[in-house]
Amino acid sequence: MINELLKKRCSVRNFSTEKVPSETIDYILEAGRLSPSGGNEQPWKFGVIKDKSLIKTISKICYNQKWIESADFLVVLCATIVDEEKGGMFIQHSRCPELKETISKLPKELYSKINLEEHQTKIPGSHMVLAALEKGVYSTWISYFNVEELKTLLNLPDNFYPSEILAFGYPQGTLKTTSKKPLDEIVFYDSYSL
Ligand SMILES: Cc1cc2nc3c(=O)[nH]c(=O)nc-3n(C[C@H](O)[C@H](O)[C@H](O)COP(=O)(O)O)c2cc1C
Repeated sequence: MINELLKKRCSVRNFSTEKVPSETIDYILEAGRLSPSGGNEQPWKFGVIKDKSLIKTISKICYNQKWIESADFLVVLCATIVDEEKGGMFIQHSRCPELKETISKLPKELYSKINLEEHQTKIPGSHMVLAALEKGVYSTWISYFNVEELKTLLNLPDNFYPSEILAFGYPQGTLKTTSKKPLDEIVFYDSYSL
């Protein structure tokens, strides 16, 4: 069932003017809320952008990706900086012990910027994409944007940074799925062999 849905998924960059009902938006957000996270920390905020002029400004911040203007709404996935008391630097040290000394010497400003649970926001994002698809709403992920400009525009507090944007809406025109590598090219069992 889920794989059938996933086979229909494709990035859409041309959305119709039809509005996505607010109950459907809530359904999509709920799918994100139900995501797992390390230590159940839920290190995220979901910014829902419906205002057309704000969407236009965001498309400029995404290095003029004009197609974004056609989206009915955007979800800006924001990741929090992991607090030190919740193991922020400790987690980085444990994952990459060989870099422990380098990480400890990083300027605080730089460390906070990379010490984001950014990878984790991919999980609620993926849930949202799938829940949307179930309702006939298509999407595209966006990572190509100026983080600081978007942070300022959305008035995000210091400890939150936008990690990805999802553009949602009903598709316009024909849908085109892309081909994916076959399983035997991407799966290995036990240890990797060339
Ligand atoms: C993390 C991530 C970031 C992406 N950023 C952009 C982006 O900034 N602009 C864009 O047009 N597409 C973006 N894409 C969409 C990819 O180009 C698209 O997923 C890929 O070409 C595969 O096509 P499909 O989604 O139709 O399978 C992004 C996708 C992912 C997963």
